[in-house]
Amino acid sequence: MTSVYCPDKTICFILDATDELNRLNDVDSILDRILLDARTLTGADAGSIFLTEGNTLRFAYVQNDTLFQSDSTNAVLYQDMTLPMGEGSIVGHAALTGETLMIDDAYELDPTLPYEFDKSFDEKSGYKTTSMLTMPIRSQENRMVGVIQLINARNERRKIIPFRPESETFLKLLANQAGVAIQRGLLNRELVLRMMQMAEMRDPTETGAHVQRVGAYCAEIYQRMAQKRGTDPREVRSYRDRIRLAAMLHDVGKVSISDTILKKPGKLTDEEFTCVKMHTISGARLFRNQTSNLDRMSMDIALRHHEKWSGSGYPGIVPDLWSPNARPGIPMQGRDIPLSARICAVADVFDALTTPRSYKDAWPVEKAYSVLEEESGSHFDPEVIEAFMDILPIITAIRERFQDNGL
Ligand code: C2E
Ligand code: SIN
Ligand code: SIN
Ligand code: FE
Ligand code: FE
Repeated sequence: MTSVYCPDKTICFILDATDELNRLNDVDSILDRILLDARTLTGADAGSIFLTEGNTLRFAYVQNDTLFQSDSTNAVLYQDMTLPMGEGSIVGHAALTGETLMIDDAYELDPTLPYEFDKSFDEKSGYKTTSMLTMPIRSQENRMVGVIQLINARNERRKIIPFRPESETFLKLLANQAGVAIQRGLLNRELVLRMMQMAEMRDPTETGAHVQRVGAYCAEIYQRMAQKRGTDPREVRSYRDRIRLAAMLHDVGKVSISDTILKKPGKLTDEEFTCVKMHTISGARLFRNQTSNLDRMSMDIALRHHEKWSGSGYPGIVPDLWSPNARPGIPMQGRDIPLSARICAVADVFDALTTPRSYKDAWPVEKAYSVLEEESGSHFDPEVIEAFMDILPIITAIRERFQDNGL
């Protein structure tokens, strides 16, 4: 919390919100924070954010207090949906014209308006949309970043009412901060993906989908574990934010492995596998100048994602990470392995098993699930496996969202 003197409760809230927003790195937690703050400011029950992508709007985030539990993710978050700009939708109209739209009752719209309410979400979910506040989000350079849509303002007795006129003013203040933060979050994802394209894929036609999947699996597994442990929500938001990006970088050290090994169609020789093991050490060394918690977690994950719960993984490391002749030593085990790395181990192996590699075909998911369960307590931390098994519908939604031919 900032301790600046604030003459006004709302301004004060927006300053605090901006402060936390500026600490977040990943676009998902930035969107989550923006929606939560926007809904708190305006009393909205639900909301979503769409992000501009060329001439379309991609559905990027949703919250709904009536339909979803607030401390767990819903698979809806990973649905892949785009709307055209304009063409009659409310969100599309706001993006195309830059107008803010205040609607008191979505079902009573004047039919001569150039946009209409799309009832399909209500029909599928059983939700009843009434009041709506839809506002474009712009960057500092005034580019259209996306659209935020808030739904069903409520009064103190939780009765649905129209949005108050001042809500538009407050939301505009927040939306200005939001545009900058969202751009930063998107840029961070982009940079991480490019780094991984260079390190692991070395193939410009690769989209980085598997890197995105591992990041998303880790964020969701962590969230479930934290929910079961009763972790403080502030800590959950910040840890989840970091693990989403840090896990994407787990194999960044593969930049030091030659193509002949990395893309070898068959099984590796012992000597080749010794080279492969070094990717943990060379990856971790990239984070030597630790300027943030994100750097620290990225290093933990890069270094320890091949350690095993039972202590038979790698690298261990002797004499130490920074020594010029650092090499694998006695492996770590159990809770000595950082939590982020224990989570990433499960996500990484699950993804490696269920997608084709130069050296193997993809396995059916059911077979991958059985391997994870069989190896719970030996390769993997049982608490992580339990959390993973709790969220299979979300795991499936992530696999569908990030496919190798998509974004
Ligand atoms: P990767 O392909 O991303 O695989 C990550 C981890 O998933 C592996 O770590 C291993 O724990 C698990 N995994 C992948 N495929 C299988 C499988 O078919 N069965 C089982 N039980 N586990 C599997 P690991 O073994 O330390 O390998 C690290 C990296 O080394 C791999 O990353 C891959 O890039 C390379 N690699 C490993 N084995 C081979 C191989 O036989 N041929 C080639 N060309 N590369 C390999
Ligand atoms: C749209 O049609 O604008 C998307 C959802 C809604 O506002 O109905
Ligand atoms: C950590 O490894 O980061 C904390 C230990 C744990 O939560 O298991
Ligand atoms: Fe690895
Ligand atoms: Fe990997």
